[in-house]
Amino acid sequence: MSVTAPAPKRIELSLPALHPEQERILRESSRFNVIRAGRRFGKSTLGRHVLMNAALQMAPVAWVAPTYKRLTPQWREICATLNPVIARRSEEEKHIDLIGHGGEIDFWSCDGGGFPGEGRKYKLIVCDEVAMLGSDLERIWTRSLRPCLTDLQGGAWFLSTSKAASSYFTQMYSWGQGERPEWKSWQMRTADNPYILPSEIAAAKQDLPAAAFLQEFEGDAVSFSGSVFTNLEQAIVDAPLPEQYERWAQQRSWMAPETEFFIGCDWAGAGRRAGGDFTAFVTMAKDGTICAIERFKADFALQRVRLAGLVSRFRPAAVLAEENSIGAPMLSALRASGISVQGWTATNATKHKAVEALALGFEEGRVKIYDVENRAVLLAELMSFEATSLPNGMTRFAAPSGGHDDLVVACFLAYLASHRPRVGECAWSPI
Ligand SMILES: Nc1ncnc2c1ncn2[C@@H]1O[C@H](COP(=O)(O)OP(=O)(O)O)[C@@H](O)[C@H]1O
Ligand SMILES: [Mg+2]
Repeated sequence: MSVTAPAPKRIELSLPALHPEQERILRESSRFNVIRAGRRFGKSTLGRHVLMNAALQMAPVAWVAPTYKRLTPQWREICATLNPVIARRSEEEKHIDLIGHGGEIDFWSCDGGGFPGEGRKYKLIVCDEVAMLGSDLERIWTRSLRPCLTDLQGGAWFLSTSKAASSYFTQMYSWGQGERPEWKSWQMRTADNPYILPSEIAAAKQDLPAAAFLQEFEGDAVSFSGSVFTNLEQAIVDAPLPEQYERWAQQRSWMAPETEFFIGCDWAGAGRRAGGDFTAFVTMAKDGTICAIERFKADFALQRVRLAGLVSRFRPAAVLAEENSIGAPMLSALRASGISVQGWTATNATKHKAVEALALGFEEGRVKIYDVENRAVLLAELMSFEATSLPNGMTRFAAPSGGHDDLVVACFLAYLASHRPRVGECAWSPI
């Protein structure tokens, strides 16, 4: 008796076609591949493409994301695309077995800073959003991922924007530029994705300072270092402060918002360096003109007296001051004396935002610095202000070691205050 096996069923799958630059990368690819590209270039799309193709050739493969949150959209996309050929899927384990023998996909996230899939064997690993792994990348790659590829002589893809340009990722990128035989790397721009409208990119360019734009959209590794505030020359006006500002301060009409003033305060001892640092106040008019720059050393009571003096001089629409540590009791004491102050909590994230806003203000020529007292100190601080990429992918903004950034902080607080939604007029009392 002869049994004829049923003819295998043919299943048609449609994987999305690659765009020309993705095609080129695939053609040029090697065993280990590094793509440094602007946001929305199509990194993840290409990553899914190579991963699914490898799995369809009946190999075990893995997708690695920095966090669970970043993992799930890719899991969903791949499940949807491969749906007709999935034999078994575990939502809980984030694992897919394909029809046939050997094709399987694991999805791992490195939330705890480690790779939970140690000891597995893979033909291919795609690591997405690698910059977010920060300094964990080196350990995760050398200790955990690389050994998973040994048995099957597997390959890997590393995908990221260029944030954390100084990290291990940058090193991998340079291996791909001819330093190591099995490595290839590419740098791509968002604009290389034909599915992204050029108008979207142009709009983003307007909203971001140049350095941030280069990182996010050009995939460029320029770090912010030394060039946080650009176009400072354009802000400098070599003339005394026009007298109308002082006049507005005293006679200003509450009906004329263009005559409003805003004060940013950085308390001495309220942050990075306790002792020995300066209190800084920057007063800015609504039109971005810096009208007064104060920088001095004083005890807490005197700092408040100086602020009260400035408040009675400019009658600001808002005063924004650091609220961390010593800031909170300072704010309470000021409010008790009738000065209305808004609090600002300094974190890496809030500072990042505020610095970026001020940097954009300078870049677009919206800030003017006349020849007022302490101008040279402010300019020196602005020029030396640094951004350092941290291993966790964040950026730390501060003065170079040994330097000061009190006036930069006061300046971005004044700028922030002038762009904040209004709570109400600032009450003031001459003390
Ligand atoms: N080959 C392609 N065909 C169609 N759309 C694509 C292609 N590559 C990318 N896209 C689209 O471009 C956008 C960004 O792609 P994505 O892979 O998420 O970029 P990245 O991971 O670089 O940020 C998405 O909307 C995606 O659908
Ligand atoms: Mg992506």
